[in-house]
Amino acid sequence: MAALRRVSVHLGRVCRCSNRIIVSRRNLSEQTSSDESDKKESTERSTHFGFESINESEKTGKVHEVFSNVASKYDVMNDAMSLGVHRLWKDRFMQVLDPLPGTRLLDVAGGTGDIAFRFINWVKEKEQQQRKATPGAEFRLNPLETDEPASTPEFPSAEDYLNTEQRADTSDTDGKKDSKVIVCDINQSMLEVGKERAKKLELEDDVVWVTGNAEELPFPDNSVDAYTIAFGIRNVTHIEKALCEAYRVLTPGGRFLCLEFSQVSNPLISSVYDLYSFQVIPVLGELIASDWKSYQYLVESIRKFPNQEEFAEMIREAGFRMVSYDNLTSGVAAIHSGFKI
Ligand SMILES: C[S@@+](CC[C@H](N)C(=O)[O-])C[C@H]1O[C@@H](n2cnc3c(N)ncnc32)[C@H](O)[C@@H]1O
Repeated sequence: MAALRRVSVHLGRVCRCSNRIIVSRRNLSEQTSSDESDKKESTERSTHFGFESINESEKTGKVHEVFSNVASKYDVMNDAMSLGVHRLWKDRFMQVLDPLPGTRLLDVAGGTGDIAFRFINWVKEKEQQQRKATPGAEFRLNPLETDEPASTPEFPSAEDYLNTEQRADTSDTDGKKDSKVIVCDINQSMLEVGKERAKKLELEDDVVWVTGNAEELPFPDNSVDAYTIAFGIRNVTHIEKALCEAYRVLTPGGRFLCLEFSQVSNPLISSVYDLYSFQVIPVLGELIASDWKSYQYLVESIRKFPNQEEFAEMIREAGFRMVSYDNLTSGVAAIHSGFKI
């Protein structure tokens, strides 16, 4: 029995992000506790939705409702609430990621595309620099794009998109990989706004939009070089599951990068920030988006999210190494980084 427990602990520590081992752990645990009591325990579990306590099973639906309500006003509200500062944070986020041409990025909870658009512009800029340095070199952001005018443009599925290395028409004769970006979000309304924005920016061929849950990503193991999530992870019901999924889909050596609201440690800044958050943001939500409640949830959910150190520890527990974080604006937001090594 003691030996069995040792094996279980060992498997849990070394391979906690592998589905295969999760199954093994389950098999082992079947020998020590009954499935019935496990089920009962999980149905009774509660979580937070802002400051409200709800059943875990309700959270994803409630979060979905929030973002369906705010989707059309989401971008305007971001600028209004943060006085444009969210743009600087996202620019910094891309600087930290510093993707090279050839990077396959998965932006989870990508919403209306802010991170994806920055990625595309960043990579295009890098490609131009490389072209200048190496005339004749050919890079494509979208591997399905050819020099032939496409009579019937085909929107690729995420699976096609990730597997294009195998496709004859997109193979790279220079041996250089193509950059790719997939925006995955649970909310179709947010993605629709993102697609419209992409059209206006003439970037519609550069992004693949996929509806999916961060806790069960519809992508194969080891399929992307970078995983980003900006202001998304605090909305996820089981953060540890989302982190395990990030680990699973990343290739060895791949990077996890998260931008999220965090904890302000300076008491003076903290009290001004609290005043602004609770007294001003819901009012702006009502005035601009006719939605007080969703923005009340937003400020409350920020307060419920683990602080910088706690979140870094969760990332380590998911298996990531070289975990670090940087505070932005005195800790109002933070960028957490980790590698799958
Ligand atoms: C605050 S928005 C962030 C959007 C974008 N990343 C940005 O920075 O502007 C949060 C997004 O997380 C998405 N989301 C919430 N729960 C999710 C989940 N479990 N899986 C995937 N996306 C989720 C929402 O639909 C929403 O689009």
